[in-house]
Amino acid sequence: MPHSIRPAVPIDAGTLAAVDASVNSHPWSDAQFTAVCAGTDGSPAWALVAADDGRIDGFVVASRVLDEASILSIAVVPRQQRNGLGRSLLLAAIARAEREGAVRCLLEVRETNAAARRLYTEIGFALDGVRKNYYPREGGREDALLMSRELKGTANERA
Ligand SMILES: CC(C)(COP(=O)(O)OP(=O)(O)OC[C@H]1O[C@@H](n2cnc3c(N)ncnc32)[C@H](O)[C@@H]1OP(=O)(O)O)[C@@H](O)C(=O)NCCC(=O)NCCS
Repeated sequence: MPHSIRPAVPIDAGTLAAVDASVNSHPWSDAQFTAVCAGTDGSPAWALVAADDGRIDGFVVASRVLDEASILSIAVVPRQQRNGLGRSLLLAAIARAEREGAVRCLLEVRETNAAARRLYTEIGFALDGVRKNYYPREGGREDALLMSRELKGTANERA
């Protein structure tokens, strides 16, 4: 069955934390996913999940403040990688941000993350700058690349 993409709901939080921990060396905490999935505490962040028959195989977390969206996290479980889920999740997040009025989307990526960098470039993100020594990594730190893409937000939906 093909995956469908839907908004995350509060009960998804633990699964999203597990998916994140399966692919990220510095995953988000359960509490962070709980806040994002609940859409509470004034946070502008939201998440979409890729699910197949109830099983969640990937997610994207994004936020929008006024006309600017940010991709905060994206992950696909190892056994489903390279099947197009990352691209679908990212495009779905961009489409939602555009519907909400965003005209620009920002993200940060580890310099050594070749897979994510290629995905972002393929989808139209361009390099804006470098944040030196931004991310912790085993035995030191590494740079963050700052990337952005223009969106087609609808002016009268901006608020
Ligand atoms: C980055 C990530 C979300 C991509 O998800 P995915 O479902 O595997 O990506 P897709 O199958 O949609 O790939 C889309 C494109 O991205 C690029 N890409 C994805 N994985 C790649 C890899 N391992 N090596 C090189 N390019 C890769 C390719 O251009 C690919 O297109 P193609 O398969 O037609 O060549 C996934 O690798 C992941 O979860 N990584 C760990 C978490 C992470 O690094 N998140 C990003 C933090 S900024």
